[in-house]
This record gives sequence, structure tokens and C-alpha cells, in this order.
Amino acid sequence: MRDGGTFVEDITEIRRRARQQLGEGAVTQNYGGKVEDAIALLNHAVATEIVCVLRYKFHAVCATGLASESVKAEFAQNAKEEEAHLDLLAERINQLGGKPDLNPDGVGSRAASQYVEGSGLIDMIKEDLVAERIAIETYREMVRYFGDKDPTTRSLLERILAQEEEHANDMHDLLIGHDQNRT
Ligand SMILES: [Fe+2]
Ligand SMILES: [Fe+2]
Repeated sequence: MRDGGTFVEDITEIRRRARQQLGEGAVTQNYGGKVEDAIALLNHAVATEIVCVLRYKFHAVCATGLASESVKAEFAQNAKEEEAHLDLLAERINQLGGKPDLNPDGVGSRAASQYVEGSGLIDMIKEDLVAERIAIETYREMVRYFGDKDPTTRSLLERILAQEEEHANDMHDLLIGHDQNRT
């Protein structure tokens, strides 16, 4: 246990360190991991989100069939939410002193998820479910990686992860609903 005196000394030391290397912004000397590794990982997630935005946009525009209107709206909504994830990740990279990699060259190869157009509504929903499951697995891995090293990034990733799980659940519900409609 720390006594009051030690805590005050700690505060003095924290205040002293906070005045150093101001050019490094939010990354202080007690940052728990290698910040370059953190930025590289987050940039992979950036690429994944870009691919997800584009795939959902394609599906929102190109889905056809009698039952497609409500599904199109759901695809469009998901595209917006994936874009919000992209913004959050890019902001965090910036806070960590890095550059978000928004160069369109090579986005597909940096991403974990794939851009698949899909043929027909069911196929599109299946591809989206697959992509969400890939996103879920990679975000879970990242949450474990950041652990206590960088709690801010971890909690950001946890929020995104929760929404990817919702997306996967919604795609699964659509798949079940549309499969039943066909039989
Ligand atoms: Fe996302
Ligand atoms: Fe998603």
C-alpha cells in the first residue's frame, strides 16, 4: 500500500514527466507497448473497415428481388457504421502519433475481410456474415493484444467489436428469414 506521502511524490514525478516530450501528444512515457506495433495493427483494422464499407455499399445498391428493400436499408446502415469505425480507428492512430493508412493502393491485401460482390441477395448476406465473423475474430485478438498495455485503444476496439457482433447477428437473422421465405 502506498502512503499519502509516496502518492504525492508520484504525482510530482507524473507532472514532471508530463512536461517532457510534448511533441508526442497522448503517448506518454508509460505507454505500455510499442507504439509502432499498435499503429500497424490499427492500420490493418482501417483497411478491413474500408473493405467492409465498400462491400456493404455495393450490396446496398445492387441487391435485387422482392424482399430486398428492407435488406438494402440494413446494408446501407451497416456501411455507415463501418465508416464510423474507420473514423474512430483513424483518430486513434493520429492520437498515437501515427498516420492512418488511407492509401487506396493495396487496401484489399492489408484487410482481413474480403470484398466479395456475391450473386443474389442470399449470397450477399452470406458474404457479409463471413466478413463480420472475420472482423470479430481479428478484433478479439486485438483486444487481447492491447490488454492492459493501452486501455484506451482496447476499450475503443471493444466498442467496435460489440457492434460487429450485432452486425453478424443481424446478418444471421436475415439469412434465416430469407432461407425460410424461399421454402
Ligand atoms: Fe466495422
Ligand atoms: Fe460490421
